Amino acid sequence: MDNKKLIFSGIQPTGTFTLGNYIGAVRNWSPLQQEYNCVYCVVDMHAITVRQDPTKLRKNSLDAYALLMACGIDPQKSILFIQSHVRTHAELSWLLSCSTQFGELSRMTQFKDKSQKHADDVNAGLFTYPVLMAADILAYNADLVPVGVDQKQHLELARNIAQRFNQRYGDLFTVPEPYIPKVGAKVMSLQEPSKKMSKSDENPNACILILDDKDTIIRKFKRAVTDSDSEVCFRDGKDGINNLMTIYSSVTDKSFDDITAEFSGKGYGDFKIAVGEAVADHLAPIRSEFTKLSQDKAFLKQCYCDGAEKALKYSQRIVSKAFHKVGFVDKF
Ligand code: TYM
Repeated sequence: MDNKKLIFSGIQPTGTFTLGNYIGAVRNWSPLQQEYNCVYCVVDMHAITVRQDPTKLRKNSLDAYALLMACGIDPQKSILFIQSHVRTHAELSWLLSCSTQFGELSRMTQFKDKSQKHADDVNAGLFTYPVLMAADILAYNADLVPVGVDQKQHLELARNIAQRFNQRYGDLFTVPEPYIPKVGAKVMSLQEPSKKMSKSDENPNACILILDDKDTIIRKFKRAVTDSDSEVCFRDGKDGINNLMTIYSSVTDKSFDDITAEFSGKGYGDFKIAVGEAVADHLAPIRSEFTKLSQDKAFLKQCYCDGAEKALKYSQRIVSKAFHKVGFVDKF
């Protein structure tokens, strides 16, 4: 690789991506390929911190891989791979866990939320999840990490771990910067707009999946919770409308002022249909590309095997230096 900056990001294969995953993260990954060296990953090892059906996980991981390609990630331009195929992530994670404090991990809000939600399975992996995430990033000496706002705390921890390791053992890791979009860094639930849109929401109307068909998308937007006002404008206290404006702006590139002007004198009903149509039209090419790609299993396999090989080669250089720095005996 040349001396362009390096981008790393990952997504869990826990079902079809939501519109939140798409707007907050994945959609920004493809344009970055022009300017940066990019490494993108389906993080199946993160997914098993919550109980998964093994057959479904395997399918979801392959689908997530194809879906990233359908969203414009080109395995010829970027390194695109599946996390469990590249052993350096787990290896570095162990080293980094010995430079991470119990107290730091206890403060992670995602751990607190998930351990409440899965109270019958508060496993050690759920607790050390952010260390594996730090390893994902640091194994490539990534400069920038494009994520939604919910991952900011994990990224701050990754920065602290990198700095601590560098102080203890001498400079090795790049301290990564978050790369969070200005609009759409937190897409909210359509049913409870004070909560993040999430695929684990029990109400299917709360969440748009990027493979939903046009009718489903429009129906979900029509049912979106708004307020008793009627003006389409971005203002404190109008969480539902603010969220719909954010989504509409993200898929049409219109500014909030333009959107307010476009719907002046019209009701929320017209606005919700317009948002639904714009989202469905925006997602339609992804859906058809995904259908095409997911039929070509041999091609996908070739891409993810090739991606894993490149990822291993790249990360191994950095991880072997980390092994040496902590005092492990060199093999070569
Ligand atoms: P995950 O799989 O939960 O989400 C993938 C990406 O989608 C973003 N996102 C959202 N953005 C805006 N609005 C929403 N409602 C919304 N929901 C999700 C997330 O911020 C994320 O960027 N721990 C990570 C995966 C990971 C990772 C990494 C990311 C593992 N290793 C290394 C970056 C670098 C996660 O669970 O994302």
